Amino acid sequence: MDAREALAEGARAVAASGLVVGSAGNLSVRAGDDMLITPRRAQLGALEPGDAVRVRLEDGDALDGGEPSSETPLHRAVYAACDAGAVVHTHSHFATVLSTLVEEVPPVHYATVAFGGRVRVAPYATFGTGELAEAVEHALRDRCAALLANHGAVTHARTVERAVRLAVELEWLCSVAYHAILAGSPALLDDDQLERVAEQSRALRYAEAPTP
Ligand code: 13P
Repeated sequence: MDAREALAEGARAVAASGLVVGSAGNLSVRAGDDMLITPRRAQLGALEPGDAVRVRLEDGDALDGGEPSSETPLHRAVYAACDAGAVVHTHSHFATVLSTLVEEVPPVHYATVAFGGRVRVAPYATFGTGELAEAVEHALRDRCAALLANHGAVTHARTVERAVRLAVELEWLCSVAYHAILAGSPALLDDDQLERVAEQSRALRYAEAPTP
């Protein structure tokens, strides 16, 4: 499958999974020195391979005349910081709810380890700005997921398919954490318990390391 097809398939999967409403959310895939990114105001559920906009990673220029996603600075910042192959940004419900309540996703479940550790919440900044891109880059350090305060979530991985899967898993983790907080004072996993899960995942070959 070529990069444009992978992007379109990923976008439709994000929409089918209920992680976005309206024209919210965007995805990109790395393509050499460029990225292919969803267009501004795209309906992800109807994205076609030909809709993708090619953007040069170095300077953010759109190379084929399209209007790239407003979150182009955020996507470029992720590719500059690590060797991610794909980035997914959603406004998924529970991730967004939790982003208004906490500074990191409470480690209520060992699935936390799939994101490289406790998922941080990047401080609020206006969408589409370099300020938001910088805050998210910081929150993603050694992680493959972050929440964006009062906004949504971002995940990255080597492939679009994996980045979408992480977005779905993150939404699930946020829903469990939200309901646990609502119900009382959940027991949280400590660093030692999370490290043991990481070891077990490596031993049983569950782990897919976050892109460094
Ligand atoms: P775009 O339609 O420009 O991709 O923006 C949607 C969005 O989610 C902004 O955070």
